Amino acid sequence: MSRQLPVVTLDGPAGVGKTTLARRMADSLGIAYLDTGAMFRCLALRLGAGAHLWPEERLRTACAACTFSLRGTGGFSELFCNDQPVRGEIRTEEVGMLAARLGTVPLVRDYLCAAQRELARQRPLVVEGRDMGTVVFPTARFKFFLDATPEVRALRRLRDLEARGQQADLATLTEQIRQRDALDRNRPIAPLKPAEDAIIVDTSALDIEGVLGTLLHAIQVRGGLAGQQG
Ligand code: DC
Repeated sequence: MSRQLPVVTLDGPAGVGKTTLARRMADSLGIAYLDTGAMFRCLALRLGAGAHLWPEERLRTACAACTFSLRGTGGFSELFCNDQPVRGEIRTEEVGMLAARLGTVPLVRDYLCAAQRELARQRPLVVEGRDMGTVVFPTARFKFFLDATPEVRALRRLRDLEARGQQADLATLTEQIRQRDALDRNRPIAPLKPAEDAIIVDTSALDIEGVLGTLLHAIQVRGGLAGQQG
């Protein structure tokens, strides 16, 4: 058997609940989690709108000025950029859209891929994103791909926003999710798709506890994260 990294990958489209699940899984497994979307969002926010159109050299220099690190484990895992915690200001749909545009640029993907691999070299991880199982960690020990219809994802997002006291409109959210899906699934490099050996979970009819139970069970029946590694 080829060497397998002690990494659990969680890939899937916007709004499918990856962040909550990754955090809960990491808690159950007692390891750290890495939200790679937060890395794309953080770069997008720092560089600003239009950065995906910059000349290569400018973009390369701007990326190189952002160093990511990870502290803590489980639900307390925290991402830092240049020793500053990456916080809530990245969590708007506008920044999500900028991040999706920036994610179409090969140079940016290469930069973040190297940073993600470096973080996983230092500790076992649950990682969530779009291309974790296909490109960044093809030898991860466990790969999951979560999916749900755009309508279900938009409704979940609406409930999240409402719970945080924010107003939103379901039709607009559904349209935003469709647009981001189109960008993420159709880009030529590292598009959103399940790895051939990923376990695909349709979460449309499951709540968070149901999905979490399914994923943890799959890990347990295959011998856990510390199982066969060589
Ligand atoms: O998971 P998220 O919604 O926070 O991600 C924001 C955007 O970042 C997403 O639409 C595309 C990009 N992204 C990516 O291209 N590859 C990843 N591994 C994670 C995110």
